[in-house]
Amino acid sequence: MAELVVHGGTPLTGEITVRGAKNFVSKAMVAAVLGHSPSQLRNVPQIKDVHVVSELLRLHGVNVSWDPETGVVDMDPSNVETAHRADIDAHAGSSRIPILLCGPLLHRLGEAFIPDLGGCHIGDRPIDYHLTILREFGAKVDKLASGIRITAPRGLVGTQVSLPYPSVGATEQLLLTAVQARGKTELRNAAIEPEIMDLVAVLQRMGAIISVDTDRVIRVEGVDRLEGYTFTALPDRIEAASWASAALATRGDIYVRGARQADMVTFLNIYRKVGGDFTIDDAGIRFRHPGTPLHAIALETDVHPGFMTDWQQPLVVALTQASGLSIVHETVYENRFGFTEALTEMGATIQVYRECLGGLTCRFGQKNFFHSAIISGPTPLRAADIEVPDLRGGFSHLIAALAAEGTSRVRGIELINRGYESFTAKLEALGAKVEQA
Ligand code: EPZ
Repeated sequence: MAELVVHGGTPLTGEITVRGAKNFVSKAMVAAVLGHSPSQLRNVPQIKDVHVVSELLRLHGVNVSWDPETGVVDMDPSNVETAHRADIDAHAGSSRIPILLCGPLLHRLGEAFIPDLGGCHIGDRPIDYHLTILREFGAKVDKLASGIRITAPRGLVGTQVSLPYPSVGATEQLLLTAVQARGKTELRNAAIEPEIMDLVAVLQRMGAIISVDTDRVIRVEGVDRLEGYTFTALPDRIEAASWASAALATRGDIYVRGARQADMVTFLNIYRKVGGDFTIDDAGIRFRHPGTPLHAIALETDVHPGFMTDWQQPLVVALTQASGLSIVHETVYENRFGFTEALTEMGATIQVYRECLGGLTCRFGQKNFFHSAIISGPTPLRAADIEVPDLRGGFSHLIAALAAEGTSRVRGIELINRGYESFTAKLEALGAKVEQA
């Protein structure tokens, strides 16, 4: 596993640039498969997820050309065909995106084979909502040893679905299927994250008819034909918030070029309550430690427009440096505090609980999940040898190593490459003393 040696204790100061959102670009690329003419996606970051999706599309006959420097991906789906199953198998476990290819492939080919999905160790990441939605459209789902085979012998017909939980992926599954299903589709309790609203914008440019109401009901009228699109991806608000938290944890000052206030309002309010300073201009946001003690807070993650679950891991590292007791109630994933074990070994005082602390009772309250945490600070962090557990937890471990006195060795940093473009180069641009082991 790739290893980074981190000499901590130096504030991160300087400027970095954030490009397109990881959790949008992969879905916009899948949407291109629906078009009968080429599409172009801009501001695409050079991350592993884009490489994985590019390979998957090529496997299905889509001509993909990607210039990582300019961030432009051109996709020509004129001759989409069934990929060889063995090839798709090779991608099993590499990403959760394949499940979103179902709708587009069913429309184009009448069938799809989806390998077992990968993802992070933050929960069992089920796909029951996805499969229920596909069946509601009239698809036939056969579970095989190596994945699932889906067919639509009588085509796909518009339907009414109500999600038990506003799942981002399930909402995207429905959108990518409903746009060409026969008739009208209605989705209640939909997720409305900015990345989803931009996917709606992409589909509308292709010729789709989609409305999103204030009660989070999405309505789609199926159309016969979709064309390609040209679209510039929205910036990655998770990466921007990760660097903002790194500025607090290391007593630094980081200008994040590309960060967009509109997508980060809830994060910015919490940042201010913790005591962080930020200045917003048209090109980005400057985040910096105030030089005075940080304040402990009570925080609950939620779906948009709530505080995003992916924002909490990096912020927890900053909260280890805040004066007092902070409470974090994670209500989106059942097991998203695993990363705190490494922080505790580095000197943080963090206790996790099964109860719903600091907010409303959530889905995990009566089950056996440690989904609430109390962080007591400030506590100096000591260097340690760390193994990255997942994407966001891994970035948090990096921030902790940068904040700690001494030299840490962070193993498994390729996991971080999945979602943070050129992060070693960015760390060096911010004055971090790091080297590949
Ligand atoms: C997307 O995951 C993101 N990933 C996640 O980011 C993000 O944390 C999450 O949305 C929430 O915002 C991508 O977009 C690739 P969900 P997704 O379906 O779509 C349950 C990162 O680090 N659920 O909204 O998989 C699920 O278990 C990643 O960038 C079901 O029960 O998230 C979870 O508890 C981490 N059945 C909740 O819904 C289903 O069929 C939210 O999951 C689907 C989901």
